[in-house]
This record gives sequence, C-alpha cells and structure tokens, in this order.
Amino acid sequence: MNMPRPLWPYPRIIAHRGGGLLAPENTLAAIRFARNMGFSGVEFDVKLTGDGVPVLMHDDTLERTTDGSGAVSDANYQDIAKLDAGGWFGNEFGGEPVPSFAVASALCREAGVWANIEIKPSPGEERETGEAVARMAKLLWTGSRPLPLLSSFSALALEAAAVESPELPRALLVVEPPSNWLAHLERLQCVAMHVSYRHLEPAFVKAVHGSGYGVLTYTVNDSETALTLLEWGVDALVTDQLDAITPNFA
Ligand code: G3P
Ligand code: MG
Repeated sequence: MNMPRPLWPYPRIIAHRGGGLLAPENTLAAIRFARNMGFSGVEFDVKLTGDGVPVLMHDDTLERTTDGSGAVSDANYQDIAKLDAGGWFGNEFGGEPVPSFAVASALCREAGVWANIEIKPSPGEERETGEAVARMAKLLWTGSRPLPLLSSFSALALEAAAVESPELPRALLVVEPPSNWLAHLERLQCVAMHVSYRHLEPAFVKAVHGSGYGVLTYTVNDSETALTLLEWGVDALVTDQLDAITPNFA
C-alpha cells in the first residue's frame, strides 16, 4: 500500500484549503500551519478579483471568510488585500490577509510544499480564470519542481488552462463521476480524476488506474474512511483533519 505509484508523483495526504479545519482557509497562515504539521502538499482555491488578480478564496462572496461583503468579482484587489481573512476563525489569526496567488505560490515554493491549485471561477468567468491561473502558475513555477496540479469543476476553465499552459498537469474535479469520465479526461488531457469520496467505488478506482490516470478523493475527515479509501488504491486524499489524518497516515 505504501509503494509509490507511477501515476501519482504527488503527496498522498493533502491539506484542504491550506490548513483544513485548524487554520483560516485559503490563507498563508493555513499553508504555514500545514507545513509545520509536516504536510508536503496543500490544496487551495483561486478565483479572480474584479480587476483580474488571482487570489485565494473559496466562496464567490466575501462574507463568510473575511470582514468584507459583496462579490469577489465586484471588488478590486487593492480593497480585497485590506480585508481580514483570519479574524472570523480566531483572534490569533486576526489581520491575516487574503493572499494573492503569487504570494501563496512563493510561500509554497520556498517551503517545499506542493500545490493542488483548484481553479474556482466566479460565475461567468470560467475561461478567463482558467487562463489567468494557468498563465501565472507557469510563470511562478518556472524552474521550480514539482509543478503544481491544476484542478477544477469547470471544464471550461480546464480547457482554457490547457490552451494557455499545456505543460501544467490538470485534473477534472467532480462530485460524482459521469458515465463518460474517460472521454472527459481524454478531451481535457488530464492526468487525474478528483472525486468526492462519497461517490467513489473500488471498481471505479481500478478502472481509472487501468486507463492510466490517477485518483484523488476529497474531503476525507474520518480515519477509518481514509484507511478504506487507501486500501481501495486511491492515490491521494484531501483532508480537513490535519491532526488525525497526518502526512504519514497509514
Ligand atoms: O479540491 C477538492 C475540494 O477542495 C473541492 O471542494 O468546495 O472544498 O473546494 P471545495
Ligand atoms: Mg477546493
């Protein structure tokens, strides 16, 4: 079970939104937290500000994870950069900013932390987000290895990323695998399928591997479930429970 798979040259246990449930999501503090816990891989979400700057943010709106309000796509980067993205989580994280993708990338590269970059477009911005993230990722990781893995629920974003930076690996993110999953992976020239663990079956893992692709599953927060999924042969799992599902888990 611990043999490295040629299909998956990336970490097996990946911290969700930077630091899972133990630090404010999609912040530098979260990535540092994961690194300090020994994680060598993090997942984070990237979308565009109103003036086109890629930033780490999950929601389309600012309310839940910052002290701002309104749509991310309606705000300029300068205004978003002044917001507090940590205080909602705990006083000790107060003043933690919304990081630009460029700054988060620099931290990952300096810290030796691999990144699964989830392209998370605001509605209607699928192509431009995929293009912008892929263009910037190519520049940011020039000469640095391993390259990040770009993933998205949006086929349009992945298509745009493939055109912009074909050399960057891509993964198709789904909740439930569609019956024509292989056609999607081939068309988008992906290296892996990222699937909710709730919709994963061992036969599917085998079929994806048999076709030469990797399988990542999210968001696995229960140790027993994590063990089962690893026994099924998933290549990687994304977790919020950084203290229970640790980098050397199983
Ligand atoms: O990339 C896996 C996972 O992050 C997808 O769901 O909503 O947490 O971004 P979400
Ligand atoms: Mg995500």
